[in-house]
Amino acid sequence: MAMRTLGRILLAILWVLVSLEGALSHGDHPFSRIAIHKAVLAINDHAYIKASPPVLGLIEQNSEWVTLEYGIPNPSIDDWIGVFSPANFSAATCLPENLKVNPPLICTAPIKFQYANYTNPKYNQTGKGLLKLQLVNQRSDFSFALFSGGLLNPKLVAVSNTIAFANPNAPVYPRLAQGKMWNEMTVTWTSGYGINEADPFVEWGPQGGEQRRSPAGTLTFDRKSMCGAPARTVGWRDPGFIHTSFLKELWPNSMYTYKIGHRLFNGTYIWSHIYQFRASPYPGQNSLQRVVIYGDMGKAEADGSNEYNNFQPGSLNTTKQLIEDLKNIDIVFHIGDICYANGYLSQWDQFTSQVEPIASAVPYMIASGNHERDWPGTGSFYGTMDSGGECGVLAETMFYTPAENRAKFWYSSDYGMFHFCIADTEHDWREGTEQYKFIEHCLASVDRQKQPWLIFLAHRVLGYSSSPYYAEQGSFAEPMGREDLQKLWQKYKVDIAMYGHVHSYERTCPIYQNICTNKETSYYKGTLNGTIQVVAGGAGAGLSGFSTKPNWSIFRDNDYGFVKLTAFDYSNLLFEYKRSRDGKVYDSFRISRDYRDILACTVDSCPSMTLAS
Ligand SMILES: [Fe+2]
Repeated sequence: MAMRTLGRILLAILWVLVSLEGALSHGDHPFSRIAIHKAVLAINDHAYIKASPPVLGLIEQNSEWVTLEYGIPNPSIDDWIGVFSPANFSAATCLPENLKVNPPLICTAPIKFQYANYTNPKYNQTGKGLLKLQLVNQRSDFSFALFSGGLLNPKLVAVSNTIAFANPNAPVYPRLAQGKMWNEMTVTWTSGYGINEADPFVEWGPQGGEQRRSPAGTLTFDRKSMCGAPARTVGWRDPGFIHTSFLKELWPNSMYTYKIGHRLFNGTYIWSHIYQFRASPYPGQNSLQRVVIYGDMGKAEADGSNEYNNFQPGSLNTTKQLIEDLKNIDIVFHIGDICYANGYLSQWDQFTSQVEPIASAVPYMIASGNHERDWPGTGSFYGTMDSGGECGVLAETMFYTPAENRAKFWYSSDYGMFHFCIADTEHDWREGTEQYKFIEHCLASVDRQKQPWLIFLAHRVLGYSSSPYYAEQGSFAEPMGREDLQKLWQKYKVDIAMYGHVHSYERTCPIYQNICTNKETSYYKGTLNGTIQVVAGGAGAGLSGFSTKPNWSIFRDNDYGFVKLTAFDYSNLLFEYKRSRDGKVYDSFRISRDYRDILACTVDSCPSMTLAS
């Protein structure tokens, strides 16, 4: 008993020290003054939770598994464990300000949680458990809290010791993106080093050759940049600093190595691991080029734990397939609904950690979706609360896009024989708008002899989808989705238009104004006469079903998957749809044609010609 009392006192002292340290380094935390240690020990002397190892990332890894050991005298099946970072958190409960927010409504949201009996079938009898969780380095320390009362009425019964990565501020999760010029690669990463303590940079150069340094810019944002709850309330978490460096004048197709660094003002250097990438081909270069496209992937926890939008079960499989096939992928487009953080900011770190093997090696180009941007009264085309109060700030900051204005998420990108026009469905695209002008300019400005493969990308379905939601409206797309745009796709002979938002896969015939313009289904020779419309929104988020199959719908799959385009040369393109569960091809088609087939006039695709001869 004496030992237990002594242990209790020591734990209390330790917790006060931890709390003080936390309060000092995270002084802006609104609930940091709540004495959580008193609440813990007042509730149950005999409950405990211990975390090990105390220091993570000793060999500079940015992700590590930890072991939790815990016990409670009166166990219940709905006891749960929350992972908190910073370790010093508030266990008070807050009411939701947004009806889409689910419990537990702890005023400081845990970054994830798991039930105490998850891997412990006898927990209900013994009150003892063991749990392994994977943590990623996200600029702060961690603690683990054991709650009774379920998720709806959480009562804190024990808090663990604090554990931390050896360097919580370390530069992490580099993500590449094409710059505004074809021969520019941008590197964006996250760290805990602000502009008042270090200079961020990238050390890079040809593989095996001389390395040079390029400076990086630094961005961050505060709680006031968020538009509503939970991003502005329980979901807020300090985003640290987001750096971007521009690696210019790259030699086409060359391999480069890079590492990210911070030169602290005291003269020491902090380095990341070494990464590599292949520079993009010159626009129009005739060579093998492979593009992966998907939407709505989100993230999931490899340790099986839960987060607030436990909603992307396919995400880990998709990520795994892409990593396994990475040597056969040149560039990735994730067309909206990026990580479904929905205002729980910690999820962006976890997402960038999940995709790091992909995004650090090939350009990871994103589009904006409803879960990044939409918030009432903030200028989004749809007034839903789907961004959880983020109103675009996270997506626009965490990833670089070569948009003229990153808050208006439309841009073009060249990759060899491909020309991509990326639209932003969360802003108005209809004729007469700024975005419509951009789309027309983007489609019109490509020389199809050199870049024959013209691809239109957007998040919501502006073309065709037979999902029940769209079918019920009779539009088979977003209302007003294709009304104005279809004449542009037709005039500029867009080959493929691709979307996410609907969580499934669907491919149409080449189509114009609801009519199939080509009877072929798998091998298109010569002119298409219309645009093939594809939904590829099944990369991870919970699947949607289909309505009755319309005649323009050629292939549908209600499973997790993604699309891969392979351009062999100016005349041959292979389209493949692969399932994430096995990486195998479940739908495909080829296009074989020559430049004259693109020039050929079809319905509404050529300006009127003179009749003089
Ligand atoms: Fe969406």
